[in-house]
Amino acid sequence: MKQEDTFFQYFSRRGVSRRAFLRFCAVTASAMALPAGAGQALAAALTAAPRPSVLWLSFQECTGCSESLTRSGEPTIEGLMLDHLSLDYHHLLQAAAGEAAEEVRLSAMAENAGSYVLVVDGSVPTGAQAAWSTIAGVSNLQMLTEMVDGAALVIAVGTCASFGGLPAAAAICAESLSQSGATGVGELMDTGVVATRPLVNIPGCPPLPEVISGTIAYFLAYGAVPEMDALRRPTAWFGKTVHDGCPRRHHFTKGHFALAYDDAEASRGYCLYKLGCRGPETYNACPSLKWNLGTSFPMHSGHGCLGCSMPGFWDRALAADASGFTGSGFYPDAPPMK
Ligand code: SF4
Ligand code: SF4
Ligand code: F3S
Repeated sequence: MKQEDTFFQYFSRRGVSRRAFLRFCAVTASAMALPAGAGQALAAALTAAPRPSVLWLSFQECTGCSESLTRSGEPTIEGLMLDHLSLDYHHLLQAAAGEAAEEVRLSAMAENAGSYVLVVDGSVPTGAQAAWSTIAGVSNLQMLTEMVDGAALVIAVGTCASFGGLPAAAAICAESLSQSGATGVGELMDTGVVATRPLVNIPGCPPLPEVISGTIAYFLAYGAVPEMDALRRPTAWFGKTVHDGCPRRHHFTKGHFALAYDDAEASRGYCLYKLGCRGPETYNACPSLKWNLGTSFPMHSGHGCLGCSMPGFWDRALAADASGFTGSGFYPDAPPMK
């Protein structure tokens, strides 16, 4: 269905005040380190821009990405945006099923050819002629191939879609990688299996919803993808490590480490590095955005970072633990324990 109303009209109808809308634009512009006045420019663009058609494909995934993005809690602009974006086609959330769902997908593709945003969560199985996961008799790989062509922007949501993630982890099933050939969208583009289109990776297991809504808002306002690093991650949210913003960082600097989750040092809030925290090598915005409506993130609740937004998650974690990992091997500059 062709989208006619703008984001702001959509938000207004759902009770979002102009003030809250402007705040969202200002916070997004600030998080992306855009120049002065960019918040107003973003608001003006979203006020005028028609809502894009968004088609959301769920492949080899656990539903965690969608669950995270549609989390319960007070309605937020991010939540409304994501609720709204799911309307055209979303395997998990749409009401249509069977042939009706396929008709929706095909008509949305035809009516919005060249302009829709394609969101993918889950990895793409490439083994056994891509037969490991099919929808309506169409393999995930074939569906991605068909739908990438007409997309103006592709967003790989979550570590599975970005880098293969858990379905590619040999530790989950010794043969899983070789059998299902779980692959991220970017690798399929880079190797010419599917067409190359503007692609943004938003890794995380699951990813932070504010990063997705901010990326889409930026694309609508500027007609381009935000600045990205070599792994196609927006630098605004993936430019710093979790370690950089961790509230336990001063303990790390002083060499104050917990050695067990229930020891006296852990109860004092000491650094979790020697318990395997991957914060120093993990790029994500968890310390600034936090989870559950900005309530907390792993180090607030006493657990180290698992590196869930990085390539190689989960295998790297298990391989390190099996070798008696204590943290120091990953960060040679770690201060001595005191
Ligand atoms: Fe699930 Fe994590 Fe993959 Fe998202 S990235 S589909 S939460 S396993
Ligand atoms: Fe925080 Fe982990 Fe860095 Fe320690 S190692 S300061 S717990 S991110
Ligand atoms: Fe994932 Fe580490 Fe954030 S485990 S949720 S990147 S703190």
